[in-house]
Amino acid sequence: MVQNVVDVGPAPTYPVVVGAGLDLAEAVAGSRAPGPAVILTDATVGPLHAASVRRSLESIGWRVVEEIEVPAGESSKSFETYAGVIRRIARAGLTRDGALFALGGGVVGDLGGFVAGTYMRGIDLVMLPTSLLAMVDSSVGGKTGVDLPEGKNLAGVFVRPRLVAADLAWLETLPDAEISHGLAEVVKMGFLDGGGFFDALATLEAARNRNLDALHSLVLHSVRFKAAVVTEDEKESGRRAILNYGHTIGHGLEAAANYGLSHGEAIALGMMAAARLSRERYGLDLTPAHQNLLTAAGLPTSVPGFDTEKVLRAMSRDKKRRSSGAPNHRFVLLEDVGHPAWDVPVTEEEVLRVMESIVD
Ligand SMILES: NC(=O)c1ccc[n+]([C@@H]2O[C@H](COP(=O)([O-])OP(=O)(O)OC[C@H]3O[C@@H](n4cnc5c(N)ncnc54)[C@H](O)[C@@H]3O)[C@@H](O)[C@H]2O)c1
Ligand SMILES: [Zn+2]
Repeated sequence: MVQNVVDVGPAPTYPVVVGAGLDLAEAVAGSRAPGPAVILTDATVGPLHAASVRRSLESIGWRVVEEIEVPAGESSKSFETYAGVIRRIARAGLTRDGALFALGGGVVGDLGGFVAGTYMRGIDLVMLPTSLLAMVDSSVGGKTGVDLPEGKNLAGVFVRPRLVAADLAWLETLPDAEISHGLAEVVKMGFLDGGGFFDALATLEAARNRNLDALHSLVLHSVRFKAAVVTEDEKESGRRAILNYGHTIGHGLEAAANYGLSHGEAIALGMMAAARLSRERYGLDLTPAHQNLLTAAGLPTSVPGFDTEKVLRAMSRDKKRRSSGAPNHRFVLLEDVGHPAWDVPVTEEEVLRVMESIVD
């Protein structure tokens, strides 16, 4: 079994271990001494994978004091679920030397990270990402939190996990559509990074069909790229913003479709729009490359229609959270593959024009 380790900084770094059929006991044993553990998972992932995780932990001396399953899906990233989870952990008597193991997709990772970062002012967190999106994106970089009725991810903290262990074998049970959603972030990072990562996007179709070598290589490229970006700018005071490529219009579409569009689908469309804006700004036409790669990943590149006013309203709400009164939207655009520009001001008229280009 090939296994790779990527260290995420700034120092002190934490390791992300990637491989198919990982020896979880060994990875965890290498990260810290055993103690009391809580496994947090969701109602889909728990029955599939929690028992083997528990066995691995117990085999190296951990004592699992509580196993908590939240309902699967974004609705569990809420204050209500957070309160329920943290109170259960308190009732189980988890001590400060304990650790929380977050076994699941981005929802469990974000929720579990917030719980670990705040329970007794912070206990150890181990991320066990089971969705492709969580492996390539959400488990790396330390952002954790929950949604509020007022907006997504509005309450949270940065938490450095002790360890991230991504076993590609977990993906065997992940539905096809979720593979495509994760690949949307992979395509995004391939365009941002360029070079060998961009070339590796030629294996997208194989990855979509669950070829393990292709998945391994794309997950590894993504983790390395995200680790490099986060190491340079952990708290997003600058360059980390490039990871929002495709997300400005994407978030607007996602909100306007009342979550009828998945995040991956919405950012695929957002990247198509951003590619058109990039062509207008910098002259280079990367839209055919976007079209081909997103299609290979099983993602949409146009939609039958949407309420543009609603998208704009959602985008303005997003914008208000960043700065007050700025006249323009701020975009990440591509001067070329591997050459992103961020914080690029774009007018509402331009946004409207490119939004029309993604309606089929
Ligand atoms: N913290 C960050 O930096 C960051 C970055 C990107 C996204 N996110 C967050 O991540 C979340 C989305 O993550 P997601 O797409 O993983 O969603 P998710 O956690 O809801 O998982 C998607 C679905 O797949 C199921 N699933 C996961 N792994 C499985 C497996 N191995 N087998 C079978 N089913 C499995 C889940 O039960 C769920 O139904 C969003 O809340 C988003 O805000 C966070
Ligand atoms: Zn995203």
